Amino acid sequence: MAKRLYEELGLVNSKEMFKKAMEGKYAVPAYNFNNMEQLQAIIGGCAESNSPVIIQVSSGARKYANQTLLRYMAQGAVEMCRKDLKSNIPICLHLDHGDTFELCKSCIDYGFSSVMIDGSSHTYEDNIKLTKQVVDYAHQFDVTVEGELGVLAGIEDDVKAEHHTYTDPAQVEDFVKRTGVDSLAISIGTSHGAYKFKVKPGESVPPLRFDILEECEKRLPGFPIVLHGASSVVQEYVAMINKFGGKMDNAVGIPEDQLRKAAKSAVCKINIDSDGRLVMTAMIRKVFAESPSEFDPRKYLGPAREELKKLIVAKNTNVLGSAGKA
Ligand code: G3H
Ligand code: 13P
Ligand code: ZN
Repeated sequence: MAKRLYEELGLVNSKEMFKKAMEGKYAVPAYNFNNMEQLQAIIGGCAESNSPVIIQVSSGARKYANQTLLRYMAQGAVEMCRKDLKSNIPICLHLDHGDTFELCKSCIDYGFSSVMIDGSSHTYEDNIKLTKQVVDYAHQFDVTVEGELGVLAGIEDDVKAEHHTYTDPAQVEDFVKRTGVDSLAISIGTSHGAYKFKVKPGESVPPLRFDILEECEKRLPGFPIVLHGASSVVQEYVAMINKFGGKMDNAVGIPEDQLRKAAKSAVCKINIDSDGRLVMTAMIRKVFAESPSEFDPRKYLGPAREELKKLIVAKNTNVLGSAGKA
């Protein structure tokens, strides 16, 4: 086995986390970050609720924050967690929606402990080929790999899909066997972003396709499943954004009870990005509206960070069931 750079950074891969999540019937939260305040809130919230955590970076985040800086930010976050927060929660650094072998390799070489190769926009055979190439490289370093079958409606980086292509359960066994992936993202009706369903205010959203999830579980017993596009789009923050000058009409997400149900199944990882974005935007708008003369970024980023931390504690406790499981 080649040297594991991520271990030197104090990180773990997702293997043990998922094993415990499967046994304990909860899901590990995977929160996206692009900047220091988000990272502080994620680590602070997970340390406070004693939850394992996957901190994840998209290719867009890597471009935004700089790949070298991000790697040291993750390392710094681990040290802050151990030394200052006195917490030993397991932390996994994961590439979200990697779309090429080169990007996945680069992240592994930078010290990521887990990567996603999202070949879902390719044909089935090309998805297998690309995913296996990443798995073969990653496993030399004991880095875990997430694959994807099926397409989520909504926006994945620059790729926009109008409709879901639900995962075909008949394919999952063959895909996992031929690629060697460690976990699989499936499409059961979740979608990325803050506008997940076209419904009018007050109308209920269509339920997730638990039948597909159950069929996948039957064919892959004990295998970790991942849910993307799993923000609830918390209405309190949407209302706050609209109250303080924003315009987010009909923003709607996945009801928390459905996510709770999924977390008790083989779903071991739940991805949340949009909810964090909404919280920060709501708080920043509030400060700007209530204190228009304020111009110190700490005065608006600080409250945004605090509110995000609260959201994370609440998610881990009430939705994912990961609180207290570190
Ligand atoms: O699934 C997408 C994540 O929310 C990351 O979004 O590509 O805008 O960083 P991003
Ligand atoms: P949301 O847009 O629902 O937060 O999903 C995030 C995600 O799936 C990141 O990969
Ligand atoms: Zn995603």
